[in-house]
Amino acid sequence: MLRKLAIIGTGNIGAVLIEEAARRHLAKVIAAVDVKEPDVAKGKALDCAEGLPIVKSDVEIIGSRDFSVIAGADIVVNTAGVPRSKRPDGTIPSREELLATNLKITDGVAAAVKQNCPEAIVINVANPLDAIVYRLYQKLGAPKNRILGMAGQLDSARYRYFVAQAAKVSVDNVEAMVLGGHGDDMVPIRSACRIAGLPVTQFINEDTLAAIEKRTRGAGAEVVGLLGSGSAFVSPAWAALDMVEAIAYDRRKIIASCVLLEGEFGVNGLFVGVPAILGKNGVEKVIEFPLNDAEKAAFAKSMAAVQKTVNEVKAMSA
Ligand code: LAC
Repeated sequence: MLRKLAIIGTGNIGAVLIEEAARRHLAKVIAAVDVKEPDVAKGKALDCAEGLPIVKSDVEIIGSRDFSVIAGADIVVNTAGVPRSKRPDGTIPSREELLATNLKITDGVAAAVKQNCPEAIVINVANPLDAIVYRLYQKLGAPKNRILGMAGQLDSARYRYFVAQAAKVSVDNVEAMVLGGHGDDMVPIRSACRIAGLPVTQFINEDTLAAIEKRTRGAGAEVVGLLGSGSAFVSPAWAALDMVEAIAYDRRKIIASCVLLEGEFGVNGLFVGVPAILGKNGVEKVIEFPLNDAEKAAFAKSMAAVQKTVNEVKAMSA
């Protein structure tokens, strides 16, 4: 059990995080912050706390507009920022279009983390994912093992779900990895997709797999389109909690995570999704493995997209 889990932003994802963390007794104290008026974080915290006797959880839940409540947190999950939302004309913005707004919010979060819990491991969920993680790293100046982003676990879960549906097998039988940036060019790694240890191609034909991979790349937008307002929030929260648990319980679980690459996969200086061992120190190790030619090309395309957004971050900081 963690001493304190901090959740920044109590929108849809933050609210699921509070609730699930409480149910799972993940931390003695769950501290949620949202600067929104009148007192959204406090309200969501109180709502959840009042239900604790029902779910038999003795955790403490604090909600506040003031960042001081995150003091001493072991892990911070950052969800602060605006989500994608369907426009009145029915179009859906890219995650990258959230950059200008969310960058300012991120800078406030970074300053608060630096002041209140400089030793915390920070897991970012806010979009555009890879660029926001980069910015947190720039601003926090913490070692690279302590700053990571959640996207690959969500994108991989979506891929696994679609594969399980197509093969008509349990989701539990499907293993898959989606790597690269958390944008439209994300890279589902077909060669790493297995059903009960067997190659996925034994169960699903190439055309269906190609369609599944396309759907996976657009899965976030598909939910945005259906919701009408806001973006997916339950599956992103569950994915982030999987990462929190891997770290909190030192599970050394391999999870596709957005981490700093320094030469791995031929990338230097970008935060992008790759398989990593998560344990008590955060990112314990990046797992490098050979990609085939098609995967290499797709990965390079995704890297170019991440680099473009990171260049915008740098330009906005200048
Ligand atoms: C998604 C958002 C959370 O993929 O990035 O649904």
